Amino acid sequence: MDVEAMKRAAAKEALKFVEDEMVVGLGTGSTASYFIELLGRRVREEGLEVYGIPTSYQSRLLAIENGIPILSLDQADAIDIAVDGADEVDPELNLIKGRGAALTMEKIIEYRAGTFIVLVDEGKLVSRLGERAAVPIEVIPAAWRAIAEEIEIFNATAELRMAKNKDGPVVTENGNFILDARFARIEGPLDMEVELNTIPGVVENGIFADIADVVIVGGKEGVKRLER
Ligand code: 5RP
Repeated sequence: MDVEAMKRAAAKEALKFVEDEMVVGLGTGSTASYFIELLGRRVREEGLEVYGIPTSYQSRLLAIENGIPILSLDQADAIDIAVDGADEVDPELNLIKGRGAALTMEKIIEYRAGTFIVLVDEGKLVSRLGERAAVPIEVIPAAWRAIAEEIEIFNATAELRMAKNKDGPVVTENGNFILDARFARIEGPLDMEVELNTIPGVVENGIFADIADVVIVGGKEGVKRLER
């Protein structure tokens, strides 16, 4: 089974959590996109009645393309479930997210969801956060350099994320920059998450500690669920 098939298998498993009348937070990235496509198919073919709350323009466009009615966050009384991918998952189900630069809206929506379901292929499982992935940090543009220097206190280096098909830095959907921070070691993910957000000019960071309820892992041996 290749990685894309693993992601798709995890997305298919997540559909089992969706019921009629639910409001569903729609994540960003390639794995979340599989889920949105499969959810759209159920809406079109089975008449499933759900509302999606997108975490990014990517998920918004995909939801519209797939016939999923959407709500903005301020139109929804509650969010039943949210489904999204991740860049790393540790044994306590803490996450690093934000490769797609959508971490702030992802965290707002996933924090508010009744159940937050994470979809990954088995290559995303790590013994300690930061083993492979950098921690994305969304920052106010004018403060990027000051914050990059500040982050060195945590025994980390931070790099301004540059755009691929645009000159200059990546600009998020909130008009901010992204720093990618590499830590020598992240000891306590929750403490680090909270501490990073106390630096003036930091909007949000990509450590999602203590927030995932279920992680669905697609692997060579099939799909398994990890629960807190
Ligand atoms: C976007 C994210 C993504 O969910 C995360 O990067 C995983 O992406 P993919 O499923 O493409 O590997 O946090 O901001």
